[in-house]
Order: sequence, then C-alpha cells, then structure tokens
Amino acid sequence: MWPPRRGCVLRWLGLRVCRRTTLLFALFWFGFWAFLNGLVFVHRTIFSDFCTNYKSKQVLQRVCEEYRQGVLTGDLCEDLCVTRQVQYKRCLYYENGKKVIEADWRGVPVVLKSKLENFSSYESFSLLEYQDAPELSPMDIVFYATLEIKNSLGLEVRNASVPRLWSQRLQERGRPYSRAELASLWSLLQQEEYTFFKVLQDLSRHVVKVVGSCGHFYAVEYLIAGHAWNQNLFSLEEISSLPGPESQTSPSSSSSSSSSSLSQGGWTDRDMVHRIALSFLEMVRHFENDFSHRLHLCDIKPENFAIRKDLTVVAIDVDMAFFEPKMQDILEQNCTSDEDCNFFDCISKCDMNKNKCGLKRINSNLQVICDKIFRHWFSPTLLGARAGLPLQVALQRAVLDCAETAGGEEAELSRAIHHRLLALLTQLLRDGPGQGEGGQGDGDGHSHTSLNF
Ligand SMILES: Nc1ncnc2c1ncn2[C@@H]1O[C@H](COP(=O)(O)OP(=O)(O)OP(=O)(O)O)[C@@H](O)[C@H]1O
Ligand SMILES: *[C@@H]1O[C@H](CO)[C@@H](O)[C@H](O)[C@H]1NC(C)=O
Ligand SMILES: *[C@@H]1O[C@H](CO)[C@@H](O)[C@H](O)[C@H]1NC(C)=O
Ligand SMILES: *[C@@H]1O[C@H](CO)[C@@H](O)[C@H](O)[C@H]1NC(C)=O
Repeated sequence: MWPPRRGCVLRWLGLRVCRRTTLLFALFWFGFWAFLNGLVFVHRTIFSDFCTNYKSKQVLQRVCEEYRQGVLTGDLCEDLCVTRQVQYKRCLYYENGKKVIEADWRGVPVVLKSKLENFSSYESFSLLEYQDAPELSPMDIVFYATLEIKNSLGLEVRNASVPRLWSQRLQERGRPYSRAELASLWSLLQQEEYTFFKVLQDLSRHVVKVVGSCGHFYAVEYLIAGHAWNQNLFSLEEISSLPGPESQTSPSSSSSSSSSSLSQGGWTDRDMVHRIALSFLEMVRHFENDFSHRLHLCDIKPENFAIRKDLTVVAIDVDMAFFEPKMQDILEQNCTSDEDCNFFDCISKCDMNKNKCGLKRINSNLQVICDKIFRHWFSPTLLGARAGLPLQVALQRAVLDCAETAGGEEAELSRAIHHRLLALLTQLLRDGPGQGEGGQGDGDGHSHTSLNF
C-alpha cells in the first residue's frame, strides 16, 4: 500500500539499516493503531453506554410510567404507552442528557428528541407549585409562553401572534388546561430548539416539522441528515428508501429507470446534488427576507442540515441560529482585535476606537454555505472528468467568489452572487441528463411569510 520510500530503494546496499527503519515504522504504526482503537473503545464505553437500546427504552418507559401517573401528557402518549403504535428503532444520539431516538409512528419514521432525559430535570411551572393557585385561563398561558419565547429566541412577540401557535388547541377546548398539560407544555418551552421549530412551523419549509409530543419528548419528521464523510454530504441512496410520495418531476423520466446511474425519479446523483444546492439557495433567500428579522446561521456544517424526500433542505440543529436582535446581543463584545468578534460562523469587525465589536455581522449565511458546503460539491476533485466543462468551470468560479466575498454589508453584491449561482445551477439542471424540467425546489417559495413579531 505504501509507496516505496526513496531512501530504501536507493540504499538497497545498506539493506539492514533499511529493514530496521521499516520495522520501527511498522511497530510505530501498529502502536498508533492500537492506541487509536483503545481511544475509540474507551470513548464508546463511556459515552454510548447511554445511547444503547436498553438505556433508551428505559427512558421511554419512565415517560410512560409518568404518563400513567398523570404527571405528563401529550398527543403522542396514547400511541407510545397504550396502543404501542410508536415503535422504538434505535438511539441516534446521547450527550449531556440530550436524547435523540429514531422510532416508527404508525409506519412513519420519526425522531424523538428531548434536551434532558428526565422530566423531573426540567424546571417546573412555578404557578403549579401552589395547590390553591387560581385556575389559569388560556390567555395566561399565552402570556407565559410569550415570555418564554422572548427569552429563548430574543424576539418581541405580540400577544396576538402567540395564540396562533396553539390556537386550535386553545379554541377547541372548553375546559382549562390540566396540570399534566401545563407541565408538559412548560418542559417543551424550556427547550429552545422546540420553541424555535414550533414558532417557525407554518412559516417555513426549511425547518423540521414537529409532529407530536409526549411529556418532554417531541417527535419530528425523520429526514436524511448530512454527514461530512459522505461523498455527496447527504446519502442519496437513502432518499429512495424513504416512504412517502414519489417526487418525480415528469412521467417520461421514470421510464428510463433501467439505467443504473438514475437513482430516483430519473434523476442522476449529480442532478440531485444540483437540486439540493438550489434548495440551499432558496433557504438562504428565505431566512434573509421572509421573516420580520433576518435569521443568522452561526454553525454551518453538513451535520446540521437534512433533506426531505423531495430534496428540500431543512435546518435540524438550530442551537446556533439567531434572529437579528439576539445576533446583535451576541456580537456586542469588548475587543482588541477582529478575532475577538468571531462567534463561530458569524463574525463582525472590531472598532479599534471604541474597542467594541460591530453589531452588524459582516459575513453572510450564503458565504459560509458556499465555503463549507458548495465548495465541497463543486471542487474539481469530486467532479472528476466533468470538471473541465465550461458550465462546471463557471460554477466553480462562482462558488469560489461567493466563498471569498463577505457580502454581509453589501446587499447588492450579495444578491448578484446569489443570482449567478442560481442561474448556473438552473442551467446545469436543464442541460443535465436528468432533464428535470420544472420542480426546481424553489418554485413556490416566494410567498412572503411574515412573523409579525
Ligand atoms: N429529523 C432528523 N432525522 C434524522 N436524523 C436526525 C434528525 N434530527 C437529528 N438527527 C440525527 O441525530 C443527531 C443528533 O441530533 P441533533 O443535531 O439534534 O443533536 P445536536 O444538537 O447536533 O448535538 P450537538 O449540538 O452537540 O451537535 C444528528 O447529527 C442527526 O444525525
Ligand atoms: C434520570 O432518572 C433516573 C431514574 O430516576 C436516574 O437513575 C438518572 O440518574 C436520572 N438522570 C439524570 C440525568 O438526572
Ligand atoms: C399580553 O397579555 C397580558 C395579559 O394576558 C398583558 O398583561 C400584557 O400587557 C399583554 N402584552 C402586550 C404587549 O399586549
Ligand atoms: C467592556 O469594557 C467596559 C469598559 O471598557 C467594561 O466596563 C465592561 O465591563 C467590559 N465588558 C465585558 C463584558 O468585559
């Protein structure tokens, strides 16, 4: 496997010396290998102890026990605990109490999530502590929920816009909320991620859908998560294995599925990458313009995004997603150099006179996505023989320009770069072997959805 080392070949006369270095090298290599394996083993036994099927089922069993005791509730509880229509599949992630479990709910794959494994670890709703507390009206709940959203998202929420989130529930019922319902709602609201998803639920296709909850666990749709080690970042094979409507664009293309390079609905892998890239562009445009505040993504990497079967890009990890007001709070720092003003992928400049970081982010979501995602897809190494085609060369150039232009300040320049990428990708899709006309994944995205906060 290793290329012959020049030293050995040239000094074949001094065979003994050479053998000794080889032996040493082999020993070193073996030692290194053993060390790495040991490390992985130790890591596994310490951490994945909690991500075993046994532990995960135990956690869900505890949820059900508390459901039976009337401590917590939710629209998923009956199926999870009584009719057993939620079937445990595997543990996806466990760290510092955060639990992520894959399951099947009535045949549909879902992901169950909670920031903390135990219900009792969440702060209880203080008004419930008093036995003789007056009954809470739905409006009071709205009020407290509003405060909680303001805390976690840094958004001023108008009273009127909160009921929308829980409105159906609030209107439908004549009776006030039970303790279990309030306690469950409260545990969910303490999870910033849940609040974020819930607030944007009907406003964005680029945010994961919450499909139900039981106690402190909430279920989201199962998606194909990105992985840096995957050649295409998203497992394109897995897309076709997902249940759901076939996302074919034209009936004619499905007949050509005999060719092995056409994986789904007559799309080639390359077509699919182009479609996913277009959806990334649409998401960038959407997060920039369609809410009352710009949404900044400060941790951009394949792992934090996923795709649906129709190749829409979805944000699944929003721990580092901030609306403009919160972004400014975060960037408001003392500084002596620009480095002090870097917050992961969100950076601003240091004002040397005031020793304060600028409140405005100087780079943009688009720049970081070009740098960390598009650059990988449209690099000459991954393209192979096609890298020399004129359109591909133009795209590579555009992606590099995009990655190197901060673009946070100059809206005009940013728009031009966005437009160039959009045009090239659309052109490539039109010319590509997949011939997928229409359905570019951004067709209906221009309806303005205002947050009204
Ligand atoms: N909706 C989903 N569909 C499929 N897989 C998912 C989904 N949500 C999360 N996952 C998988 O579970 C893993 C962990 O989930 P999540 O991203 O919420 O944790 P995390 O917040 O990334 O933890 P950290 O912030 O420490 O990185 C993800 O890397 C992803 O592989
Ligand atoms: C959760 O509860 C179980 C059982 O009550 C306990 O053994 C475990 O340590 C708790 N975990 C945390 C993180 O509090
Ligand atoms: C929201 O409603 C609460 C009572 O439910 C009230 O006290 C508060 O002033 C209202 N806030 C706004 C901004 O209207
Ligand atoms: C920033 O600097 C000011 C004065 O130079 C000081 O009063 C303040 O405490 C500092 N803030 C932080 C977060 O260090």
